[in-house]
Amino acid sequence: MTSRSLWAAPVAVAFLLAACQSVHTQTSSTPTPAPLDQPVSMTLGAPVAGENADSPAIAPKPPATPVPRLTYNSVPNVGRTIAMTFDDGPSPKLTPQLLDMLKARGIRATFFVVGQNAAEYPDILRRAAVEGHEIASHTWSHPQLTRLSAAAFAAQIDKTNAAIKAAIGHNPAVMRPPYGATNANLDRRLNREWGLKVILWDVDPLDWKYRNAARVQRTILEQVKPGSIVLSHDIHASTVAAMPGTLDALIARGYKFATVSELIAMEGSSAAAPAEAPTPAAPGPEKPASTEVTVPAVETPAAPPFTIERYAPGEPASEGSAPR
Ligand code: NI
Repeated sequence: MTSRSLWAAPVAVAFLLAACQSVHTQTSSTPTPAPLDQPVSMTLGAPVAGENADSPAIAPKPPATPVPRLTYNSVPNVGRTIAMTFDDGPSPKLTPQLLDMLKARGIRATFFVVGQNAAEYPDILRRAAVEGHEIASHTWSHPQLTRLSAAAFAAQIDKTNAAIKAAIGHNPAVMRPPYGATNANLDRRLNREWGLKVILWDVDPLDWKYRNAARVQRTILEQVKPGSIVLSHDIHASTVAAMPGTLDALIARGYKFATVSELIAMEGSSAAAPAEAPTPAAPGPEKPASTEVTVPAVETPAAPPFTIERYAPGEPASEGSAPR
């Protein structure tokens, strides 16, 4: 092989990887695609594909490792593991009930807390953290971040981080923008200035809208797939009431549970549980006498290489009223 062909192939591979990554990022959160003539890696802080050409005389480097993603709707290649996420709390009444349900099943979840609630109920956060759950940011007062000034935006993140750190001793690693309203610039700023990854979702039971436990359960079971990030809210009694049946049905289908950060850490890992036949349901103390599961426990298709953002930019913010 000539020296040119030695480095040209890895460069092409790296470029393809970067291009795939760019497609994902843009479908996740970027309202308008980047110009085609713009180096795809520039928007991602990755090495420019052509940089490998700087030293064609030496042995070609292997393709760059995948660019760290800033935002997720789901996490591919993690076996049958999913992340249950609960927003807008903590609720002094409902969150402890939910923690009991999760503890009974050995399930770790992620709580995207509203900062002002976190400041009011630090003991609930502490309990959740001690029991293995992830405490994440959902801003201080649940505004639509894309409408805020830079200073107001920073205050929403800083105050929430402070409340979380005061309760559990460290800052959150992930955040979820209220209403899923974000853009590539905000995502980059959150990552650059606070080290936060932006977590959206691919399963949405619209539990803030339909306050019906059976419907919440049915919708989650219809939409869930390996690697899913399930959105719901622990401030609605109907949502918490849906959880025992929902969690037991997911267990019966062989799903495993992880926090969002654990799920991200598993991405592409060979340690990920294989997507194989469901394991028998673990007996749960709160198992309902009659199961409400009506969806057949069929094998779900493998996760696609990336998912399409369900939130349509420009859509009116409609997640529901502020938590208080
Ligand atoms: Ni919310």
